[in-house]
Amino acid sequence: MKDKIFVALLLLSLLLQGCANNTTPASTAGNEIERKIDSLLKQMTLEEKIGQMNQVSFSGENAEARELVYKGRAGSIINITNPELINSLQQVAMEESRLKIPLIIGRDVIHGFKTIFPVPLGQAASFDPQLVEDGARVAAIEAASTGINWTFAPMIDIARDPRWGRITESLGEDPYLTSVLGAAMIKGFQTDNLSDSTAIAACPKHFAGYGAAEAGKDYNSTFIPERLLRNVYLPSFETAVKAGAATFMTSFNDNDGIPSSGNKFILKQVLRKEWGFDGFVVSDWTSIAEMVSHGFCKDGKEAAEKAVNAGVDMDMVSELYQKRLQELLQEGKVKQAVIDEAVRNILRVKFRLGLFAKPYVNTGAEGVLYAEAHLLKAKEAAIKSAILLKNEANVLPLGEHIKTIAVTGPMADAPHDQLGTWVFDGDKNHTITPLKALQQQYGDKIRILYAQGTAYSRDIKTNGIPAAVSIARSADVVLAFVGEESILSGEAHSLSGLNLQGAQSELIEAVAKTGTPVVTIVMAGRPLTIERDAALSKAVVFNFHPGTMGGPAIADLLFGKAVPGGKLPVTFPKTAGQIPLYYAHNNTGRPWQGGEILLNDIPQEAGQTSLGNTSFHLDTGVEPLYPFGYGLSYTTFEYSNLRLSGTQMTASDVLTVSVDIANTGSYDATEIAQLYVQDCFASVTRPVKELKRFDRIPLKAGEKKNVTFTLPIAELAFYNIEMKKVVEPGDFNLWVGPDSRDGLTSSFTVVN
Ligand code: BGC
Repeated sequence: MKDKIFVALLLLSLLLQGCANNTTPASTAGNEIERKIDSLLKQMTLEEKIGQMNQVSFSGENAEARELVYKGRAGSIINITNPELINSLQQVAMEESRLKIPLIIGRDVIHGFKTIFPVPLGQAASFDPQLVEDGARVAAIEAASTGINWTFAPMIDIARDPRWGRITESLGEDPYLTSVLGAAMIKGFQTDNLSDSTAIAACPKHFAGYGAAEAGKDYNSTFIPERLLRNVYLPSFETAVKAGAATFMTSFNDNDGIPSSGNKFILKQVLRKEWGFDGFVVSDWTSIAEMVSHGFCKDGKEAAEKAVNAGVDMDMVSELYQKRLQELLQEGKVKQAVIDEAVRNILRVKFRLGLFAKPYVNTGAEGVLYAEAHLLKAKEAAIKSAILLKNEANVLPLGEHIKTIAVTGPMADAPHDQLGTWVFDGDKNHTITPLKALQQQYGDKIRILYAQGTAYSRDIKTNGIPAAVSIARSADVVLAFVGEESILSGEAHSLSGLNLQGAQSELIEAVAKTGTPVVTIVMAGRPLTIERDAALSKAVVFNFHPGTMGGPAIADLLFGKAVPGGKLPVTFPKTAGQIPLYYAHNNTGRPWQGGEILLNDIPQEAGQTSLGNTSFHLDTGVEPLYPFGYGLSYTTFEYSNLRLSGTQMTASDVLTVSVDIANTGSYDATEIAQLYVQDCFASVTRPVKELKRFDRIPLKAGEKKNVTFTLPIAELAFYNIEMKKVVEPGDFNLWVGPDSRDGLTSSFTVVN
């Protein structure tokens, strides 16, 4: 322990020396940038300053856009992707406009630009920061090659409600997983050098609390008290600042009555003051203007006033800064210093991106989009994102005895829909669907029968089902590809029910009745309530929309060329009525003890009782269909020998946790081991479990490894009764295991 304290002190002193030393290369460059900004600010007219704060949307050639750029009235353009057009607009900015300030070109590059990766929720199932970083790197390389400088990603909203369509863009329900993977995505987009020609600025969004939309309806109000905000919804954003995110985006929701684009507390107090963020903040699309609909502002003028004074530096397309800031300044409602600060923040990012020095994109770059290496990475991501939820009698992987397969379902050959939400640039003609991949890879060895069953996920027509039944009868196995069309999730696409849409459940039931084993492969944007469908299937593989290379990935998984290892980044409920349902809930005063009393056990005219005194639903109990962190493999893993480096810890100690994990089956595979902690009692109630560490452990068949996690006790800090972030002394439980439900357990105490 003494050694560790020494090393920690040494690191701290080096860090302090670094801070005190203003001549480090980074700070010299920083000072140089600030000097350049000072000089520009001195030359800029008020119109030019406000212009920097104005983001406009154009996609094609447009005289108005040119005029705006020429006059310095637009600092950023969103949605142009044509490199020649981007260059010609940059040319107006750099060679014709008065002050020669480059544009920053933004675009939603969410899970790939051309080569589409699994949706973020799918990538999160890999629990693989390196993979997520690599995916963002590919996206950045492709996007930057067309002149895009800035993406509106990652989305690091904590999402605990699968009705909310945007859960698909999130990294799931857990603050720690989201923090780690969000930081990895930022690194992939930005690299360590934002001015690299393949780097694009990241924009963590949506700040803050958007994922807690009431009833899962998009844009809805949230009611997150400050402690919950700080303990659950803000940590991923704080990590994003530490990861060097260049920009931030405000969210659409009003939290406790305050729309984020007018929320001084989160933008000034938390983001700037507490976290020291020095990039710029952009509003979401027209979210400044929407503060009028919220009833937070009388009109657009007041909305501009509140937004700029709250700390929103750039207005995404509502044009209110452009139209109103000048008069607000004259009336003294907005100070010149506020405008100057916003412009300074924006210019700082433009300098860091190297846009002043290298504003143009090389339009001759060939072989970047859909490069072979990008497609391979996308396939790897789709493989690692697949989650095996059920595998009765090891029906998967499909073995040598399989001579005929019956492929059915609306997602078997849906090149557009498997790409997932919010894809503006990826071309479905590059998609390889599961049907195509199976035909390409196995068509010469196996008889592949295909009957779509239903035409698309919402299709309620059942007249295609008999053909599916007929091929099922002639096959050794049925592969039923079901799920959701991509348009059913994502922004503005929330649902109140999460059963399979259309006649898909009827299709599964009908093919299952033939007696041929059914393997159900689900491609969706969110957790679905598939209890009944899973019961009728021998195996279930769940893929959040897997992207361009989903087909080859799934073919490899089904035939055992690859072994599924993904784990759920979000809890799967049995019914939508259980929502919100997440593993890190509080215990309540009457926690569930097992042995639920269910609806049909209550006698008629039973006298009023408190029915076992616990917190549960009469009809569904408390258990989810599948817990957070859950996922099977073709092999089996055994955890043993959990050991802690100590059982009495202080807040400055580092706990070392070690465990043996053995691959007890017959496939080489990777296990995602997870470490959870419970703070048993505290000045405020704490979650029953919180993920604190995870690791991907590759194990050959029969191999056993000792796995070690190090956990600084400082990471157990939380916002306590006094709203201070502290580690409170007391008892802690700890688990290491395959998911949030099972695992080996131990305990330790934190002392003063
Ligand atoms: C979304 C953002 C997105 C922006 C720009 C908005 O509707 O909420 O996430 O980045 O549009 O396309």
